[in-house]
Amino acid sequence: MANNKIQHIAIIMDGNGRWAEKRGLTRTEGHYAGSSNVKKIVKASIKYKVKYLSLYAFSTENWKRPKTEINILMKLLSRFIKKETEEFHRNNIRLLVSGDITVMPTGIRNEINRVIELTRNNTKFILNVCLNYGSRDEILNAVRSILKDFKKGKIKEERIDEKLFQKYLYNGELLPDPDLLIRTSGELRISNFLLWQIAYSEFYFTQTLWPDFNEQELGKAIEVYKKRNRRFGGL
Ligand code: FPP
Repeated sequence: MANNKIQHIAIIMDGNGRWAEKRGLTRTEGHYAGSSNVKKIVKASIKYKVKYLSLYAFSTENWKRPKTEINILMKLLSRFIKKETEEFHRNNIRLLVSGDITVMPTGIRNEINRVIELTRNNTKFILNVCLNYGSRDEILNAVRSILKDFKKGKIKEERIDEKLFQKYLYNGELLPDPDLLIRTSGELRISNFLLWQIAYSEFYFTQTLWPDFNEQELGKAIEVYKKRNRRFGGL
């Protein structure tokens, strides 16, 4: 029986809106509940000996949502960062952000950079928040940077392989590929998330809506993952 190691989990946190609707609450309250759940899942991941957690918090496509909802999501992110940072730092947790944050509101951007710097040497657990993240965007940026370095003579064409390419992705030198990708709320899509990195990841889809996805559910996903037969293209 397989007993796969797990070090990196990536989650598409979906279903905040439906969670709220089912309870007669506003979408804002759904996002509130979703953001409270993040801390619980970080704790649970540490308990299950996971080392890296990547969370899809805001995609490059989410700007299409109504402005009021975007503002609420930004507020929640900024609140989360302000509220949880000290505790994360005390617990030796490092924060990384993947995505183009140059377009985020200045206040949030400064706060994010401060926390990334503060937690830089922490080693117990790495929380990678994907913000204004889009995988195609990430891949195109990598291609542009590789081209620039090629033109400067820093790299030779023959040296462009998977390993080098990975280094040009967001935090590419710090993050291993996810072992397990989870999407909550019953949608069966990847939605432009980590397309390069999930080449050999195991997928786990659950009907549970993100605010209800708890420690026990995470444990179930890990159990299922552990029993999968991972072959990486071999036999
Ligand atoms: C999906 O729910 C969720 C999002 C678009 C954003 C995820 C954001 C959070 C959980 C809050 C902030 C994050 C952090 C890291 C503190 P949806 O609105 O698409 O739900 P629906 O499909 O049911 O409408």
